Amino acid sequence: MTTSRKFQPFQAPKGVPDYVPPVSPEFLAVRDGFAHQAHLAGYEHIELPIFEETGLFARGVGESTDVVSKEMYTFADRGDRSVTLRPEGTAGVMRAVIEHGLDRGQLPVKLTYAGPFFRYERPQAGRYRQLQQVGVEAIGIDDPALDAEVIALADRCFSSIGLTGYRLELTSLGDDTCRPAYREKLQEFLFKLPLDEETRRRADINPLRVLDDKRPEMKELLVDAPLMLDHLSDAARAHFDTVLAHLDDMGVAYEINPRMVRGLDYYNKTTFEFVHDGLGAQSGIGGGGRYDGLMAQLGGQELSGVGFGLGVDRALLALQAEQKQAASGARVSVYGVAMGAAAKRRMVTIINELRQAGISADMAYGERGLKGAMKGADRAGARFALVLGDRELEANSIACKDLSAHEQRDVALDEVVAELRRALD
Ligand code: HAM
Repeated sequence: MTTSRKFQPFQAPKGVPDYVPPVSPEFLAVRDGFAHQAHLAGYEHIELPIFEETGLFARGVGESTDVVSKEMYTFADRGDRSVTLRPEGTAGVMRAVIEHGLDRGQLPVKLTYAGPFFRYERPQAGRYRQLQQVGVEAIGIDDPALDAEVIALADRCFSSIGLTGYRLELTSLGDDTCRPAYREKLQEFLFKLPLDEETRRRADINPLRVLDDKRPEMKELLVDAPLMLDHLSDAARAHFDTVLAHLDDMGVAYEINPRMVRGLDYYNKTTFEFVHDGLGAQSGIGGGGRYDGLMAQLGGQELSGVGFGLGVDRALLALQAEQKQAASGARVSVYGVAMGAAAKRRMVTIINELRQAGISADMAYGERGLKGAMKGADRAGARFALVLGDRELEANSIACKDLSAHEQRDVALDEVVAELRRALD
């Protein structure tokens, strides 16, 4: 006789969430609910590779960002090519648009995607190493109405799943004509401050990011820092004002946050974040903005773009914080309970026919008593339970219990599918 060694059960990698029932239906409702809203606004699905050539992200997202410098899952494949698990979606979308020449057709190109992204961050509540996003990108037209469309769409995504406790913050990061001069002005200001070495280095590489310093002593030092919003070019100002006017027209509430700093380098002009107050430190449930230089940066045409990424994991946590549900909670509409071998044989067919008719149905398997089997109907959240025993079989009928109305009646066996179809319509 051989003895098998008992292994410690495996666990998911650190910082990687599983979504199992009963949470997984909620996860799907959020993800698919967002995607549905994007489709309603004319965005078409794009399915992107999970990994890409490393250079795409280094060039697209920016070498100075934490995402690229510290958080990428990068490895050499067996052919010794450096590849990276996608940390975000925008760079991959641009690569695919250029590669397939979508930018040579009707503009704007409007695309939506959903799926996992990977960032080697320090795991904590709401901060995962495998995170899920639904994103949209509208490429090729520099129209403030498109910025407003994208922002209103994100707002509708969150409201459509029932969230209320969130707010929208936005600002403008300026354009090519005003940002370089502002950057210099900000650096001039920063280099006069008593900065620690790390902050000084950041001021050197990406001074805008210093404005995001959360330390109280730094906040105090930065009170009088010049802000991009006060130094916009006329064109950038007009663009931003028009975005705000559209949002006002649509009744989308916002707060202007001139110190907003996004974690990715490609943004200019309009940038925004949706923040939920019930989530603690990881409060950003979605963010995005305009990225007008990105396509050219990646070797494509000089075309503009605007988009967002919404955090599905965090939206789910926000729903839980608001004690709300996005899914119906029912696994199936109809649940079959058969007593005895002949009844079971018939029930298997009925359940199959219900599914063919587009009605979600399941049944009790194994040898369980009526009481135990009826518990199964309850747990499945079924609206109807079908009970079939020898007595019913003989009468060519089936007991149909409406579990929400607490009513029961006998239905002819060959009419039960049509009957349930009517009842569930
Ligand atoms: P992002 O702000 O880096 O933007 O990510 C978008 C959203 O993904 C965040 O607001 C957050 O909800 C979620 N998220 C990010 N990191 C994590 C994490 N470690 N754990 C859980 N959730 C996370 C982008 O990725 C841009 N590509 C969005 C975009 C599209 N901008 C223009 N187009």
